[in-house]
Amino acid sequence: MSRPWFLLFVCFLLGHSAWMYSVSAIRNDAFPCWSLNKTFVDCSALYLEHVPPLPQTTTSLDFSDNRIHKLANNSFYGLDNLLQLKLCTNGITSMEEQAFANLQQLEELNLKENPLVYIHREVFIPLQSLRKLDLSTVRITAIPEALRMLHNLQDVNLASNRITSANLDIFRDLKNLPLLDYKPDCKSYLGYYTCIVMSTFLFLYTTMTYMMVKYHAYIRYLYQYARGKLRGYQAIPHRHRYEYDVFVSYNNEDIRWVQWELIPHLEEAEPHYRLCIGDRDFLAGRDITTNIVEAIQGSRKTLCLLTQRFVRSGWCTLEFKIAQHRLFEEGEDVLVLVLLEDIPAHVVQRYNRLRQLMSRKTYLVWPEDERARPLFWVRLRKALGVGNVLPYEEDV
Ligand SMILES: *[C@@H]1O[C@H](CO)[C@@H](O)[C@H](O)[C@H]1NC(C)=O
Ligand SMILES: *[C@@H]1O[C@H](CO)[C@@H](O)[C@H](O)[C@H]1NC(C)=O
Repeated sequence: MSRPWFLLFVCFLLGHSAWMYSVSAIRNDAFPCWSLNKTFVDCSALYLEHVPPLPQTTTSLDFSDNRIHKLANNSFYGLDNLLQLKLCTNGITSMEEQAFANLQQLEELNLKENPLVYIHREVFIPLQSLRKLDLSTVRITAIPEALRMLHNLQDVNLASNRITSANLDIFRDLKNLPLLDYKPDCKSYLGYYTCIVMSTFLFLYTTMTYMMVKYHAYIRYLYQYARGKLRGYQAIPHRHRYEYDVFVSYNNEDIRWVQWELIPHLEEAEPHYRLCIGDRDFLAGRDITTNIVEAIQGSRKTLCLLTQRFVRSGWCTLEFKIAQHRLFEEGEDVLVLVLLEDIPAHVVQRYNRLRQLMSRKTYLVWPEDERARPLFWVRLRKALGVGNVLPYEEDV
């Protein structure tokens, strides 16, 4: 180390030691606090359980972060010149009548963050010079009556308490009180709960409305079904139960396929099937979803003609749901899936119900190759079962 730096270092050490000495000059076991000039005394965070003997000259005492659990009579004996007193975070639960008896000069008192269970009715009365009082976070439920007598109060902090009866009359006579930090906690709690309750209702209402709009046909179906069950309706005998053999669920784009392939092969060829084709058989002027629900209920089977566009449109979801419900409730698997075109795996993945169905059921694929088509029709007829609701079959 070069000479000038070394000298500087020695100077620093000497200066620091001298400063430390002056600061700690009066710090020993009997007097554990820090003080520069015996007027400002800092006893904070020393785990003290009572106030040690301090110089009478002390005007400002910081006693925060200690462990005085109880402010007994004459806790500040001899400190008659005290102007400022900080007692934050001490775990003080009780204050006796004469705790501040000799602090008639005191101007600032900070009792922040103490769990005050017991405050003697008259404990504040000797503090006739008090201008500033911090009673925030002290768990009081009422404003101490004695504050009425402190005519020099200018600043009272009552924030973060559980004050339920807000008797602000106490401050009416205190003309010098411009700063009153007071939050009626009861009301804010009330607002908090109201907010929770209101938002819960709003959420439920929105969800219900959304569900009703989106699934109203299915909900109506479930309602009718449940009502039928409650009234004890018996299942109508199988043969006469259905108006149609097959309800065909398709996208409008595929109407040509239905016209040119499906109708000729199923309805016009032997043995006949009676098909429910939306564009032809639905009652005009009725809600489309109601029509679908009734068509599925009134048909022995439901044939879904799947294309990418149809899957993406989301229309087949309703058919899937009602078909699944019938599967669970009646034990009848009414759904037959036909893929009119290849649907990429990533599209199938996006639609949960379709993915489950396609992994569980066998489905038919409309073949591009014309030579494979006769076999397709055989397999489709097998999947649909034998048609049995044709009008002319009724007297068989
Ligand atoms: C004591 O020190 C404080 C600063 O720490 C100062 O404000 C105050 O005026 C000093 N009092 C005397 C009497 O020197
Ligand atoms: C504190 O002082 C009051 C009034 O002088 C007295 O009634 C009370 O008993 C004292 N408390 C204790 C613990 O000495």
